[in-house]
Amino acid sequence: MAFYNIVLLPLKKFKTVADFIKDFWQSQAEKHKAAHSASWGDNWAIDLEVENIGSYIKEGDTVLDMGCANGFAAIRQLARNPKKIYGVDFSEKMIDYAQNERENHPEKDKLDFRVGDIRKIGFDDETFDVTYTTRTIINLPNWQDQIQAINEVIRVTKKGGTIVISEAFWEPLVLLNAMRALVNLPSLVEHDFNRYIKKEKLEKYLESINLKYTCVEFSSVYYLGSRFLRDLVTNPSDYAGYSNPLNEVFYNIEKQYSGGGMGIQQAYVISK
Ligand SMILES: C[S@@+](CC[C@H](N)C(=O)[O-])C[C@H]1O[C@@H](n2cnc3c(N)ncnc32)[C@H](O)[C@@H]1O
Repeated sequence: MAFYNIVLLPLKKFKTVADFIKDFWQSQAEKHKAAHSASWGDNWAIDLEVENIGSYIKEGDTVLDMGCANGFAAIRQLARNPKKIYGVDFSEKMIDYAQNERENHPEKDKLDFRVGDIRKIGFDDETFDVTYTTRTIINLPNWQDQIQAINEVIRVTKKGGTIVISEAFWEPLVLLNAMRALVNLPSLVEHDFNRYIKKEKLEKYLESINLKYTCVEFSSVYYLGSRFLRDLVTNPSDYAGYSNPLNEVFYNIEKQYSGGGMGIQQAYVISK
């Protein structure tokens, strides 16, 4: 009892890393409500993510968006005519905004939003044709939790189904920063609520469990333009957020051509 009172009781006051990350997303929901900026300000990159993920959704599919935030991207995937899209997020406030958007949507019966944690997904094995994550696994505090999440998205996907892990990766960050260092631009850094995944580690893990995957680059030229070339020819402080016209220019080039390993956002497409 003395040990509990002296050592453990005071510790209860401290927040864990996971609490800190959840608090951040709760506050993002309050601040941005139903807007895309609740998840990220970069509307161009979000558009590239949505388009890439959508290309794996077939008509009639049952889909899970794990870490759906306020449902902004999940709702856009209705354009692919799935049977149903489930969106799950551990932020109750994000799910409240997603529910509001659902209520006002003409295809609301095809949408189901609920609270849940990616580390223990509340669905049976082999429920979904397509399961995807978008910048969600990077919110987990360490590699053990990230593996647990990867195992969970694989578990709930049907045999023959597809898992799309669309996340931020460490190696392209290093590459971009090496390029920026050459021209004396400051390094880009991860936000404190993120732990970018190492591509090499993820690939080794997927190979160890005998799953076939391809890595899809859908943001390389966009990042080359918006995180390197743009900062050489314009002053970042002249434009708010992602409004620099060069963002749109490189977004349009990205849609014609991608590759080169510079996109921090990449997708691992896994066949189960
Ligand atoms: C970058 S946002 C994702 C945005 C969304 N997928 C989209 O495409 O618009 C990350 C989301 O993951 C959620 N998240 C973080 N950790 C989670 C966890 N352990 N379980 C479920 N959701 C989590 C956050 O609450 C946040 O809404």
